[in-house]
Amino acid sequence: MAGHIHMSASTGGSTNGEYKKIVLWICTIAALGGLLFGLDQGFIANSLETIEKVYHLGVEGGEQYAAILATGGIVGALLSGIFARLLGRKRSLILAGFLFSSLSIISAMLPAFPILSACRFGLGFAVGIASFIVPLYLSETAPASVRGSMGALFQLMITIGIFVIAVTNVFIARIFLDPLVALPIMFVVIAVFSLVMFFGSFALPESPRWLMLKGRRADAEKVLTTVLNSKEEVQQELNDIENAIKSDKGAGIGIVFKGYFFKVLLMGVILQMFQQLVGINMMIYYAPTIFGYAGMKGLVAMLTVPTVNMLFTFPAIKLVEKWGRKKLLYIGATVMMITMLAAGLAFASIGGITDPSQISGLPKAVLLTAVIIYIFGFAVSWGPVAWIVCSEVFPLEGREVGMTITTIVNWTFAGLVMGNALSFMRMHGNASIFYVFAGFCVLSMIFLKFFVPETKGITLEQLESNLKAGKALKDLGNH
Ligand code: BGC
Repeated sequence: MAGHIHMSASTGGSTNGEYKKIVLWICTIAALGGLLFGLDQGFIANSLETIEKVYHLGVEGGEQYAAILATGGIVGALLSGIFARLLGRKRSLILAGFLFSSLSIISAMLPAFPILSACRFGLGFAVGIASFIVPLYLSETAPASVRGSMGALFQLMITIGIFVIAVTNVFIARIFLDPLVALPIMFVVIAVFSLVMFFGSFALPESPRWLMLKGRRADAEKVLTTVLNSKEEVQQELNDIENAIKSDKGAGIGIVFKGYFFKVLLMGVILQMFQQLVGINMMIYYAPTIFGYAGMKGLVAMLTVPTVNMLFTFPAIKLVEKWGRKKLLYIGATVMMITMLAAGLAFASIGGITDPSQISGLPKAVLLTAVIIYIFGFAVSWGPVAWIVCSEVFPLEGREVGMTITTIVNWTFAGLVMGNALSFMRMHGNASIFYVFAGFCVLSMIFLKFFVPETKGITLEQLESNLKAGKALKDLGNH
């Protein structure tokens, strides 16, 4: 399909405009799916104080409210494969858009706390669906040339979402000093983006591959005719899909019992586990709180993490092809290990001082620098690469199963970090958790060395045949 974009750019004619419009829609919806993931993920950092004033939650209650998003994400990711098959890709996106919109609107009405929590669970559910369906829909509908960069683009949109909500929440809290006014407006920001996604999804074409799966060849042909340029291309594509469906044995969950699959699944699971155990979401969720423990408040404390995170996801898009996945993961883990140690030492030197005016400038400077470099280390490596590798290593017939399971693992460990980071600091001292995360960085490097393949510059088919030929995991990417 790579040729289609080329053709549409080089040939004029009426179908050309139509083609571009649809591709634009597809990319916009993908962007919105990632953006909403980020808006809900990043919501907590600069709203926690406002939520606290309205609902009086305390540290543990705040953590639980934050983390329930992950529980919803797990359930959403678990069921999204079923939704994708039964409802279709388009209607699943509409469903996610509906949940995003209605649940942020209900939250904006500041209901009783259990209802607010249920809404956050539901938002997580929608994030779980979106994070599965959007990439799937894209890979089935968008031209191949867009497909390649989607992994990194999706991550970029997540980080933009985290950034946007961090900025809007800061300013909302500063402009509307009454928390009973500020908090609803914070939710309304998410609702606005959600409504755009909800209504926008109706205008999407259904995935031609799903239509073919359901035996609706005529409908698939209609969609392809609006996306592609000539009758020949449409017929070619229909045949390709038909062949793919025939050879896709549609492996169910039973595939995990096949040795070669189990092996690569375990690698993906551990990779996603480490993506969370290096501690990123402690920073995404609680950086303002943690900076506060070190006596730092204000815009720097509130906006440094989301800004650095977003900016350094841009170079990752190129580096992942230039330097390769594994090298980036090594660099990221090393950078994060050193900076987590530095942050821990900064907190250790602050000791038990609680009066901010008594905390000297040096540990603050060390902490701030360490956090900036740490976020750089994650954004340029583990952020996008863990997802990219998991979308590459599974054999075609088990890709859905593999990605569902690894996504669930990602959310499970994300939930663990979100739900326990602050109380861990309270129980074991502020420095302790940084050493724990530094330790996980070391373990991740050992894991990389022995088990993770370099998947740069090798076709997915070659990877698959290496896997089935019994090559060691770390050699899967060798020709
Ligand atoms: C992770 C999220 C994290 C985000 C930060 C993603 O790759 O899976 O848990 O919040 O990156 O940018």
